[in-house]
Amino acid sequence: MAPTVDVDTAATLLRAGKLVAIPTETVYGLGADAEQPDAVARIFAAKGRPSSHPLIVHLRAADALDEGWAANVPPAARRLADVLWPGPLTLILQRGPRALDAVTGGLSTVGLRVPAHPLARALLERVGGIAAPSANRFGSVSPTTAAHVQRDLGDRIDAVLDGGPCEVGIESTIVDVSTGVPRILRPGGISREVLEEILGAPVPMAGDDAPRAPGMLASHYAPRAKVVAVAPRDASQRAHELAREGRIALLAPPTLALDLPDALERIDVPADPRERARTLYESLRAIDERGFERAIVVLPDDERGLGLAIADRLRKAGAPKD
Ligand code: TXA
Ligand code: MG
Repeated sequence: MAPTVDVDTAATLLRAGKLVAIPTETVYGLGADAEQPDAVARIFAAKGRPSSHPLIVHLRAADALDEGWAANVPPAARRLADVLWPGPLTLILQRGPRALDAVTGGLSTVGLRVPAHPLARALLERVGGIAAPSANRFGSVSPTTAAHVQRDLGDRIDAVLDGGPCEVGIESTIVDVSTGVPRILRPGGISREVLEEILGAPVPMAGDDAPRAPGMLASHYAPRAKVVAVAPRDASQRAHELAREGRIALLAPPTLALDLPDALERIDVPADPRERARTLYESLRAIDERGFERAIVVLPDDERGLGLAIADRLRKAGAPKD
């Protein structure tokens, strides 16, 4: 287990090049001082993540956009930052001189975000930029409590700053504003509709043909169990097909009426999108903790708002693993 520390100790450790798990409103991050390449390199070793995958740099406030992390910040980026930071939004911008290769994976862009969690903000007042991916082993489910972090990485990191359970529960929305035409690279805690309202224009999802950063793999956010993501209307039929093959869980809101085989164990998840997002990773962890080797997860019936990010994560949990 890594020791649980206070904000001042966390800041001291980060300045000394150590790894500290930090709470954010989305998920816990595995933080290192973004300006120390050796410290950043330790993140990749701890996670077992390829070092070509770029990291998000967490900053204190929107005015840090002008402190050397980014270059040529377009008006659309400033508008989004003004309204949505601190909050679950990551902006991909052209990189500035402070964004190290160790952080960007050598890309010409950098991901920046100002998190809303009060402890993260207090820490960022003391340490200028914190590079942090989600604090889980590569490819597994993101942590939304300090206990999740300890289970996954407790023996590989120097400390945990415990900020309680994450309120949003799902990662930030990533918007690429580096090219002039904003596009969503990853749906998340800020809905597409909110982005479009602020910018007064459609904000497309990056298509499958669009260049993606390394680290946007199909299989991600996945429990050990084999997961099948299904639309609500297909759930009963798929359950009957799959239940022939042994013990299996089905995750769906209790409000969804289903005709299910006896062999299948139903696990309730919240129907309300905000609550479902907040508890999403906990519910995916429960599949493994309860010893299921397979699970059917029912997609939200409405993929607007937070439904888009929830459906994205469930589909990724169900994507083939190789
Ligand atoms: O909510 C979040 O975003 C959390 C908390 C800790 O802030 N962080 C997070 O980090 O989810 P991570 O590393 O698990 O996911 C970040 C994603 C990766 O898929 C990475 O490829 C992408 O952001 N990314 C980072 N920098 C990028 C860049 N310059 N261009 C394109 N994608 C980038
Ligand atoms: Mg992650």
